[in-house]
Amino acid sequence: DAVELGKFRHYMQKEIFEQPQALANTLELIAGGGGISPQHFGARAGEVFEGVRRVLVLACGTSYHAGLVARYWIEAIAKLPVTVEIASEYRYRESVPDPDTLVVVISQSGETADTLAALKHAKSLGMARTLAICNVPESAIVRETALRFITRAGPEIGVASTKAFTTQLAAFALLTLALAKINGRLPAADEERHLAALRHLPVAVQKVLELEPEIEKWAQRFAGKEHALFLGRGSHWPIAMEGALKLKEISYIHAEAYAAGELKHGPLALVDKDMPVIAVSPHDQLLEKLKSNLQEVRARGGELYVFADAGSEIPESEGVHILHMPEHYGMLSPVLHVIPLQLLSYHAALVKGTDVDKPRNLAKSVTVE
Ligand code: G6P
Repeated sequence: DAVELGKFRHYMQKEIFEQPQALANTLELIAGGGGISPQHFGARAGEVFEGVRRVLVLACGTSYHAGLVARYWIEAIAKLPVTVEIASEYRYRESVPDPDTLVVVISQSGETADTLAALKHAKSLGMARTLAICNVPESAIVRETALRFITRAGPEIGVASTKAFTTQLAAFALLTLALAKINGRLPAADEERHLAALRHLPVAVQKVLELEPEIEKWAQRFAGKEHALFLGRGSHWPIAMEGALKLKEISYIHAEAYAAGELKHGPLALVDKDMPVIAVSPHDQLLEKLKSNLQEVRARGGELYVFADAGSEIPESEGVHILHMPEHYGMLSPVLHVIPLQLLSYHAALVKGTDVDKPRNLAKSVTVE
């Protein structure tokens, strides 16, 4: 193990730091001059995507959060309605099938029992346009779908998923653009702009990883808390959800995530000096609204930890800690904003001395119901 871990203390830390390479490998198809093509998803993808009128994403855990981010992208750019559903709910619910739906199952392992069963259920209802986004090429889920995209994160050992998640997002970015292109909604100039951002992504992630020492300091203050609240808006709401999940999984600190606009409808009642509030605050069109949500937290004595980026302009003050991400990254910003949250939970777990790679009661892949 020591040899494989190299300079890292845990697989989770190693896997967090492998993200630039994992993303570069996953995006190799568009490296150099490669453009967006349905072919990235299999030889028959052009035919399967043609006439798709909606998208249904089925998954569990961290993979489900990747689907939630993708909903914002696909609806905004490819203009297709998207539903994202937890696989264990979908498989037992009476739903309304539509053969023009692209069913996307997303799974790191490709072996999660609920996701596999949900896929089989969708197929049994007559939905044959199926796509797997998966990190394991020969897995059960990949064998069941018409189309596939294999993320190239490499083996993920840590139970808490990190590099699989960001490569899933990269796959969804390609899917969004491929669906937009096939629907005539991707002008050449936009395609070039998105391709440039995707090609630069590994470098952008690398810069975010350099923030580790600062995040480590935050984790020290954090580790003594019993509860934490994560806030985000838009495509960063699922990132807040993923941050809360990571913290629960490995540091055993109770964490909840809320869409920041919902704060006033309940969770604000919980906020006091013992409840740290983590805000994912990119410089996007929702920032001004988010800032007023943050003032509501401060007014109740809540301590704020804000992940801002280049243009966010939120001043540091008593009880308001700000960490500036190196750049604002447009559509792909969720890929960058999840990184500090992974590091925060990792370092909080280190302070607490938990078994980071094998947290209690959890399994890497849940192959039984
Ligand atoms: C388990 C793992 C999670 C993972 C989830 C779904 O709960 O601990 O990290 O997100 O399963 O796994 P999958 O392999 O389907 O992505």
